[in-house]
Amino acid sequence: MRIVTKSEDMQRLSIEYKRQGKTVGFVPTMGYLHEGHTSLINIAHKYADVVVVSIFVNPIQFGPSEDYDRYPRDIERDKEILEKMGVDVMFYPSVDDMYPKGFTTYVEVKGLSDKLCGRYRPGHFRGVTTVVAKLFNIVMPDVAVFGEKDAQQAIIIKRMVRDLNFPVKIIVGPTVREPDGLAMSSRNEYLTEEERKVAPAIYQSLLLAKGLVEQGERDTSKIIAAMQEFLSKYDRIKVEYIEIVDKEELNPIERLEKGEALIAIAAYLGKARLIDNISVKVGGDNG
Ligand code: PAJ
Repeated sequence: MRIVTKSEDMQRLSIEYKRQGKTVGFVPTMGYLHEGHTSLINIAHKYADVVVVSIFVNPIQFGPSEDYDRYPRDIERDKEILEKMGVDVMFYPSVDDMYPKGFTTYVEVKGLSDKLCGRYRPGHFRGVTTVVAKLFNIVMPDVAVFGEKDAQQAIIIKRMVRDLNFPVKIIVGPTVREPDGLAMSSRNEYLTEEERKVAPAIYQSLLLAKGLVEQGERDTSKIIAAMQEFLSKYDRIKVEYIEIVDKEELNPIERLEKGEALIAIAAYLGKARLIDNISVKVGGDNG
């Protein structure tokens, strides 16, 4: 596996792969890899000849009081995982390489970036779209893979790619969970033993919601209330938001009609801010 730390070198390498007629698959990450990440790498291997994984804890997507400094990092372990997975290139740039002095250009997907998590993390998605746009220009992938776990992020990236004509196909991989249902996340590392025990309740609340929809409930305020009541049994879980939205504009839905909706939740468990979501499909008035 090649380890590349300079954007210029990464660009040169990608141009060389293309010259050789190879397609490039790309999985951007902030490292501290888990099976959620590796599932996306497996998908990338299926779609492309060469797989590039970036590891970069992106400072501009963290708010001033967020966890940039204590975000978990273990580059040696990440390197071993990527090597074992047959990844061709680990792109591991420095903050100075990505944001040289005088950096002042940002990409923003207006509207979508203020919804759901964006309401509570101002500037977060602007940081995400800016770094992903840069990474796309550096890695020049044919295919890039993102996780459903961060559903809003994937929707925003797809919109950015469409709006700015990035020549890349976006694939979204399913959420990988622990055996008890907790969505895998680098931030699960923050959980104490006690918090870890109750953490699966977040996913259980989503399953409860899905069950209600399957039983015919169409009033989203009732579904949200049932989730809130379920979660209120857990003192340690502090819900930030629960929303049921459409998957295009991320606008709240009052009554579920034919089509797909996203049920999204963010909650604090001690220091950890965890997010999860589930999609529900309604077949029509009765189904
Ligand atoms: P990070 O949180 O490291 O996640 C990297 C990718 O892995 C994202 O596409 C995310 O949705 C996906 N992922 C995380 N947990 C997952 C799980 N349990 N199952 C499936 N996929 C999962 O998301 C970011 O980094 C950053 O915002 C980034 C896109 C790299 C920009 O800095």
